[in-house]
Amino acid sequence: MNPLHQVIINKNTNRKPVWIMRQAGRYLPEFREIRKQNPNFIKLCLNENLSTKITLQPLQRFNLDAAIIFSDILILPYGLNQKVEFEKGFGPKLGDVNIEEMLRLNEESFVKKINPIYNAIKKVSTSNIVKNKNTIGFVGAPWTLLVYIINQQSPKKNLKKDFFKNKTLIKKILLVLDKFLKIHIKNQINSGANIIQIFDSWAGLLEEKDLPDYIYLPTLSLVNYVKSLNTPVICFPREIKNYKKFCETVKPDAVSIDYNVDPIKILNDIKIPIQGGLNPKILLSDKDTIKKETKKYLDIFKDHPYIFNLGHGVLPETDPNIMDYLVKMVKDY
Ligand code: CP3
Repeated sequence: MNPLHQVIINKNTNRKPVWIMRQAGRYLPEFREIRKQNPNFIKLCLNENLSTKITLQPLQRFNLDAAIIFSDILILPYGLNQKVEFEKGFGPKLGDVNIEEMLRLNEESFVKKINPIYNAIKKVSTSNIVKNKNTIGFVGAPWTLLVYIINQQSPKKNLKKDFFKNKTLIKKILLVLDKFLKIHIKNQINSGANIIQIFDSWAGLLEEKDLPDYIYLPTLSLVNYVKSLNTPVICFPREIKNYKKFCETVKPDAVSIDYNVDPIKILNDIKIPIQGGLNPKILLSDKDTIKKETKKYLDIFKDHPYIFNLGHGVLPETDPNIMDYLVKMVKDY
């Protein structure tokens, strides 16, 4: 059984597998080299040879236990024919929503538009370097995608006051997302992804009263769908106030925690396998601090099924040698 399945399915506590969110990306000079020659980020995600190569880059350097496919959560709105662009120094910029067109869209045209991603997953999952390791497919959670689709860019700290103004539109978008996220999940699994992670990066923006409508119910629908395909699902409801309630309601196979979560408290609160937690900023400090902080997580989760990862994506300023140091330390623990 591959490393993540041992933890998530067998609840093994002897091995602490490791992979890193955004492990393929801007902190790697070999990625930046390819990126320089490919200014259109979406096009790069849809170049199956290059995205395969980028996915494998961190595994060639470090002894990681999983490959996460080089793509983006915003490939989904792109597949729904919303304009999606990445502007240097600004982040994602999305076009206006044409909901009638989204409602009319059929599975075939959606899949055709983003098909290179599935081909890349086939290549990655059958490559020698990923043999006996996991291939992680992923999607954005309905809530986080709704935020990008309506806000048309990353929210700063809070949502605009009129975000929830058009409830009918929101309902329709959530309906479209449920349908096409399931299609996207199914195709990733059929192409060789053997774990699905659901990224809910903006879960922390919602008040308690809005969680059932925008997070619990839409995410539960996806989680149940992934389970029905006999594939483990990891949820990352970043900065949600109550991880315990989330886990009890949505019942993912494993939960990824952000760096504001108290690891000792979560260990007492939650029975399912846990992933992540370490603040990515720690990797910008000295080796002694990194060692101390990493050991803290490994010690706390010593007798719990635990996958080592960060509490959010690795920062672009991170030194690849430090990543090597980190992965080796987890492996030698
Ligand atoms: O983890 C991996 O290595 C796999 C690839 C991956 C990317 N994005 C590649 C990427 C994954 C899993 C994502 C998820 C993603 N994308 C999330 C959820 C996780 C999180 O960070 O909260 C979100 C919110 C996005 C949307 C997104 N994509 C933003 C806001 C940005 C711009 C800001 C940023 O952090 O770079 C992106 C661009 C992006 N996605 C890059 C990469 C490697 C950088 C593109 C570049 O080279 O300029």
